[in-house]
Amino acid sequence: MDRMFDVRLPDYDPNEEKAMLRMTLQNQNLSSLTKAMAFNLQAVLLSEPSRASRQWKEEGLFHLSYSTMLRAGYLTLYGNEGKDYEDVSNQAKDQAHSLEVYNEFYKLDRLLMKAARSSLSAEEKKKFDNIKKDLWKLLSVRKLDCRANQSLWLDCYKQHLVDLGVDEDMQTRAMLLQLWSTQSNAGPAVFWLLLFLLKHPLAMAAVQGEMEKILGSRKHTTGHVREISQEKLDSTPIFGLQGGKDSVMNETLRLTAAPFITREVLRDMCLRLPDCREYCLRKGDRLCLFPYISPQMDPEIYEEPEKFRYNRFLNADGTEKTDFYKGGEKLKYYTMPWGAGINVCIGKFFAVNSIKQCVFLLLRYFDLELKDPKAKIPDFDKERYGFGMLQPEIDVIVRYKLKD
Ligand code: HEM
Repeated sequence: MDRMFDVRLPDYDPNEEKAMLRMTLQNQNLSSLTKAMAFNLQAVLLSEPSRASRQWKEEGLFHLSYSTMLRAGYLTLYGNEGKDYEDVSNQAKDQAHSLEVYNEFYKLDRLLMKAARSSLSAEEKKKFDNIKKDLWKLLSVRKLDCRANQSLWLDCYKQHLVDLGVDEDMQTRAMLLQLWSTQSNAGPAVFWLLLFLLKHPLAMAAVQGEMEKILGSRKHTTGHVREISQEKLDSTPIFGLQGGKDSVMNETLRLTAAPFITREVLRDMCLRLPDCREYCLRKGDRLCLFPYISPQMDPEIYEEPEKFRYNRFLNADGTEKTDFYKGGEKLKYYTMPWGAGINVCIGKFFAVNSIKQCVFLLLRYFDLELKDPKAKIPDFDKERYGFGMLQPEIDVIVRYKLKD
């Protein structure tokens, strides 16, 4: 927190903070967020003149996915220029401001891994500090206070900082930290998901078929889909059910989510592994798990684990497949993109709804294709192992235009 974002909070209790913020992202609050996300996604995708065109446009798929999700996610959590989502001048201001936030954030994101490992050169460190200053100006709590439609999540977090007695300057720095915690994973997830679909026509056809079933054929509907109800978002076993379970979503995250999961040992204990190895853990030790290697990429659990199989998490009857084995034992945790236990990602349900809405909008309203259908799936940027969703080493160019 300190090394990357210069955030130091007095008497900071992460568990207390997470418990308080978790409720702002669930149940009734989740449905308000999902609705706001639908409007904001449409503002940055379907109403933005540079994107919503009937002329073919070329762009990197990673750039398209990350910028769309970050801009819409930022507007949803941090608020809009004006209350009325339909107001065209508000939309234009939202488009310009969210683009500015994304452009600065993207520059920061390029340097963040080195900053976390304290390996920035003197010149990079200067650049990194200047980008942070620009972002603090954009995200200052004073400016945020003037925004409309702020989420309950933001209200609660700001109040939490006030309760901790943190000054305004530190509150602003915490806003940037939260922008990273909440927005750095969903965009890359949309990128990998779309890329796997574009490279696997059978999977694409299955998802398109499922989408038409729940939203109706586009030929028979007019105008934009304003929002997709939770019930509809939950009735997509091929794409993925609530909580990121099932098929395409689960398979994408199995292959591309590589967080470190760190825990503090609370009491002396002996940890026995199934292969009979034993570790003596002392109270206060820190434990770091890397589920990406196992279970996620373990060939004993998944046949050809490096391959994308869109129906890997589906049974033949279309229900969710949950039986995966290692050493003859059925596994409780067979993939862990969201972490696990009480510290599991608190934004998981909002993330799943948002990813689904973004992919559905892109597939429903745009013709989208790889510029080079033979383009290989790029390697991962290896610096990112341990930090959540992986990013590609190079972008993949796509062509897109609004459907006729
Ligand atoms: C594909 C999208 C996402 C993935 C794969 C993901 C994954 C994770 C993981 C692995 C953790 C750590 C869990 C652990 O320690 O066991 C985490 C924590 C967290 N996630 Fe997510 N997440 C995603 C999207 C989101 C979104 C959209 C939000 C908020 C709106 C969010 C908010 C958080 C927060 C606040 C934490 C706690 C951070 C901390 O401990 O400091 N996440 N997430």
